[in-house]
Amino acid sequence: MKQVVCKKEDIMPGEMMQSNLGRIEIVVCRTLDGEFYAYTNKCIHQGASLSKGKLCGTSTQTDTVGEYNYCHEGEILRCPWHGREFDIKNDGKMLADPKVKLPSFQVDIEGDDVVVSK
Ligand code: FES
Repeated sequence: MKQVVCKKEDIMPGEMMQSNLGRIEIVVCRTLDGEFYAYTNKCIHQGASLSKGKLCGTSTQTDTVGEYNYCHEGEILRCPWHGREFDIKNDGKMLADPKVKLPSFQVDIEGDDVVVSK
């Protein structure tokens, strides 16, 4: 299955939108470097619509106790219900448990079209 889900300009860098691939609800994300990624729009925890969450960054610990670095801005999809975070540039892996990941879809850019396939 392959389908045009939106135009490139419909999603600015750092934004995401809900769309559909056939009857599958998906979330299409665009990172700050302009790349597109598509995942199921259903959180694997309890099914929240991920497109209602946030595309943000995350914190990593430094060598100093109590100090953190904010990083990966625009690359982390945070669920709106319980805050699980998924790394969209790393196969949708959950930050807290990288063995778990969101189902993903292939994204190709054809002219101005964002094309998603399964
Ligand atoms: S439904 Fe997404 S974290 Fe719970």
